Amino acid sequence: MPHRRIPRPPGTPKESGDPLAATGDTLRWGVVSTGSIASEVTAQIARLGDATLQAVSSRDADRARAFAERFGFATSYGGGATPSFERLAADPDVDVVYVATPHGSHFDVTKAVLEAGKHALVEKSFTVTGAEAEALVGIARERGLFLMEAVWTRFVPTFHAALDEVEAGALGDVRWIQGDLGFRATSDARRRLWAPEDGGGALLDLSVYPLTWVLGVLGFPDRLEAEAELTDEGVDAANALTLSWAHGARAQLLSTLLAQTTRTLTIGGTEGTLRTGAPLTGPDAFVIERDGSVHESRFEPSAPRYAYQLREVTRCIQGGLRESPTMPLDDTIATMRLFDEARRRMGVTYPHDAREF
Ligand SMILES: NC(=O)c1ccc[n+]([C@@H]2O[C@H](COP(=O)([O-])OP(=O)(O)OC[C@H]3O[C@@H](n4cnc5c(N)ncnc54)[C@H](OP(=O)(O)O)[C@@H]3O)[C@@H](O)[C@H]2O)c1
Repeated sequence: MPHRRIPRPPGTPKESGDPLAATGDTLRWGVVSTGSIASEVTAQIARLGDATLQAVSSRDADRARAFAERFGFATSYGGGATPSFERLAADPDVDVVYVATPHGSHFDVTKAVLEAGKHALVEKSFTVTGAEAEALVGIARERGLFLMEAVWTRFVPTFHAALDEVEAGALGDVRWIQGDLGFRATSDARRRLWAPEDGGGALLDLSVYPLTWVLGVLGFPDRLEAEAELTDEGVDAANALTLSWAHGARAQLLSTLLAQTTRTLTIGGTEGTLRTGAPLTGPDAFVIERDGSVHESRFEPSAPRYAYQLREVTRCIQGGLRESPTMPLDDTIATMRLFDEARRRMGVTYPHDAREF
């Protein structure tokens, strides 16, 4: 696939737009999950000038109520015979739903949301398999609904400023990228990181972030090699991906749940290097070394980190777009297919692989 630049969303970083400022009609948000990222992102949705918090759902009624009270949602759905996310999806006062459950349930929840006629922002990993991703994209396209994977890295100003430098030739021809993203999760009580039914493992939890930088610089690779250290339950506790391109560039990406790593990424060209600050998921700075000189570019974030992707969702829906040019659905499908192939090489399977569509 020929490389094309990931388009810069309006307002970053050359225009000094505030991603919290309203750009049109108010959207009424629903949130599925009361977990950790749901709390962080909800707090930032609440700060958008054109958002209201309409409904939250949880498997437990008390948790749903407590979350609604904490953030000021109008309604909560929890417990009951019908899954709470289905009741939230059916709420006529909800316009767009943020899906923030473990990846193993993204397909079922998002399918219910789309079939109820609601737009959706879905956490990464978008799904567990490429086939699930294709099925969701098919439903959204058929029904004319907005759908996006929440890879927030694609929307942060530093990411685009770094791509500008690479594109302008600051490093010469890019031949090499090396990135690592890891933390020690062995004492983390969150079962979702390890459970096959939740899509556990480092690949689906972490690898999309260094991959996002690679896609921004070189596009999808021509070849993939992958190896992993597997847990007793068969998910990858750590993995190494080697990507290569017919024109000779290579990338090595390490993701691990077993060790603290530098959480940085280095792009090597024929004339110089660019090293991101940490964490590479959304760094505030990068450093370019060339001809013996070192230059740091630093960005003061103008808004909380998830606000940039929330502005994109809002702006797209307000403008009648059905997908984001910066996070296209074909990239999401291709990423999930790439991960399918990586898992095949690592020997990782999930119950979701047996699904038929
Ligand atoms: N963008 C980012 O920076 C970022 C960061 C962290 C995580 N994530 C992604 O966000 C998702 C959630 O991660 P997290 O760290 O927030 O997880 P978490 O803290 O474990 O929260 C997930 C929540 O989902 C609900 N849930 C759990 N199992 C479920 C199931 N089988 N079906 C439906 N709901 C279920 C639970 O809420 P109730 O018990 O109330 O139902 C739980 O609290 C993952 O896909 C992860 O990759 C993204």
